[in-house]
Amino acid sequence: MTLDDQAATLRRLAKSQSSGSVTTIDPQRRRVFAITGGKGGVGKSMIAVNLAALYARRGARALALDGDLGMADLNLLLGLAPTKSLLDVLQGTPIEEILLEAHGVHLLPALNGSFQLANIDASAREVLFTAVDSLSERFNTLVIDTGAGIGENTMAFASAAADVIIVATPEPLSIADAYACLKVLATRHGLTHAFLLPNTVRSPSEGEEMIARLKAIVDRFLGIAITPLPSIPFDPTVRVAAAAGVPLVMHNPDAPASRAIKKIAQRIDALSQSEQGSGEAQRQWLRRMFDFAAQKQTP
Ligand SMILES: Nc1ncnc2c1ncn2[C@@H]1O[C@H](COP(=O)(O)OP(=O)(O)O)[C@@H](O)[C@H]1O
Ligand SMILES: [Mg+2]
Repeated sequence: MTLDDQAATLRRLAKSQSSGSVTTIDPQRRRVFAITGGKGGVGKSMIAVNLAALYARRGARALALDGDLGMADLNLLLGLAPTKSLLDVLQGTPIEEILLEAHGVHLLPALNGSFQLANIDASAREVLFTAVDSLSERFNTLVIDTGAGIGENTMAFASAAADVIIVATPEPLSIADAYACLKVLATRHGLTHAFLLPNTVRSPSEGEEMIARLKAIVDRFLGIAITPLPSIPFDPTVRVAAAAGVPLVMHNPDAPASRAIKKIAQRIDALSQSEQGSGEAQRQWLRRMFDFAAQKQTP
């Protein structure tokens, strides 16, 4: 994102906050975002599946991509048992043949326990990206779930999306891991803006404190723009819906976490970068980010 884009984002944020207006979700809008955050177990997959399901419910053509390639679980959250996965795409299966659908969400499943898929190289990633791009006419909303950590797959999937959503919980370790993740995305992949989403907060002020702490270190050491999203409370119905294999926004639409996710989807739509960018970014759904740091240094 350029500085002009950042300024536009901040202006839209200020406007949406001052007017208190509720943005409606446009079913035709084009969205590509990645959910990441560094630490495992912070709720990335839960958020990915529920955002995809919510946009689908509002009429968007939503596709979820399980980018946690070797520890896949989006299929479980959607109640699906895939027989094919992205590994088959690498072995020549047309990507349409691995697509599954449940609760209005189409899924590109990964393969749990696949060492091979977890450790693909840049050229295999390029094959996957090209295959996913070929679906960009058919879907307008792409939600990419990523794995924990700052491994190459996770960073490549995160930086390929127009919008990056960093999920963190109020625990210090999670904040540290979110910072580590932002640092790699900013210094190696040129990320200049990210959404920050606090999950499993016990009170709204806990979410605000977490945002303030992370923002302080990001401002000091990275200087990239951070846009806070509304917090998701700790909510026991999240696990019930996960066990049932139904997205929470459908299983318990009025649960506190569901209501938070609805607010988040609206806020993202008000501020998203997805529809901006050059013609090149519009033709290709996923961006191929040049890892400039990797080219300059030896390990
Ligand atoms: N807001 C929440 N309230 C209660 N439990 C949650 C919440 N968000 C996530 N969880 C639970 O935390 C666990 C980890 O969530 P998951 O989405 O798998 O995290 P990740 O993908 O980051 O590893 C799951 O058991 C999930 O049900
Ligand atoms: Mg996950």
